[in-house]
Amino acid sequence: MTKPAILQVGAYPAWDQQPLDAACEVHRLDLAPDRAALLAEVGPRIRAIATRGDLGADAAMIAACPALELIAVYGVGYDGVDMAAARARGITVTNTPGVLDEDCADLGVAMLLALARGVVGAEAWARSGDWAAKGPWPLQRRVWGARVGILGLGRIGRAVATRLAGFGMDIAYAARSPKDTPGWTFVPDPVALAARSDFLIVTAIANAETRHIVNAAVLAALGPEGLLVNISRAQNIDEAALLAALEAGSIGGAALDVFEGEPALNPRFRSLPNVLLQPHHASGTVATRRAMGQLVRDNIAAHFAGRPLLTPVP
Ligand code: 8YV
Repeated sequence: MTKPAILQVGAYPAWDQQPLDAACEVHRLDLAPDRAALLAEVGPRIRAIATRGDLGADAAMIAACPALELIAVYGVGYDGVDMAAARARGITVTNTPGVLDEDCADLGVAMLLALARGVVGAEAWARSGDWAAKGPWPLQRRVWGARVGILGLGRIGRAVATRLAGFGMDIAYAARSPKDTPGWTFVPDPVALAARSDFLIVTAIANAETRHIVNAAVLAALGPEGLLVNISRAQNIDEAALLAALEAGSIGGAALDVFEGEPALNPRFRSLPNVLLQPHHASGTVATRRAMGQLVRDNIAAHFAGRPLLTPVP
């Protein structure tokens, strides 16, 4: 039987690549010396695009594939997919929700703890000999019992809040509407949420509504003692305003897993002592990435077998 031709936009681990190559005629856009030439050559035969949350599929890529039926995203965030272009052509989009929520929440909490308690600097202090030479590491911020604001109470935001409830924290959240929660406070306005929080954790979906939802006003409300954590998408924060606030000390610090232009960071981040940097790795465990890859391949297989998709984007 002829294998369906698919376009793969970025690298997958070997444990996904082997079965994908076995099931499909895979054309690797990421390995093409001339992407435009590859799309011109194979685009007319491409029936599915296999992409990643951080890479997406833009309108030009979609237009280059006139026979496209499916876009399968390795990741929960499908903001990089031009959904208007996909929907205009009746192209189905799938993502990988539900299998990465807990790992993302784990890293979000780890980033908050590491930032608040100065874990990275303390490790260097101990390793470098400064502890012996210069004395104790400076006192840091208490996390347990503090006030936390969760900006976006989807699966990941809820998993973060559930974890922080175990730290005895005063939990509030912003969302489009009130949710059923174990007593967490609904504060729909991001400025008001920031004003009543010691820590603000951004877990919101990335779309037109949430672009720059953390802006200069939110950062000013969070204040010079406030700490910001972002495990969502860079677009949810006005990065110019964030850099200005960090450099001026008008917020206490930030722990960031996503950046405009990633993996190339704005060099201003590198010289800031009050920032913890992570390389877009919130879902980056073997177990979770295996589950994500399996879900991508299961969606692709279901599509070509004419079976219902497992996780179509609503
Ligand atoms: C990506 C993510 O999938 O889930 C998402 O939307 O951002 C990540 O888990 C990751 O970049 C994989 O390459």
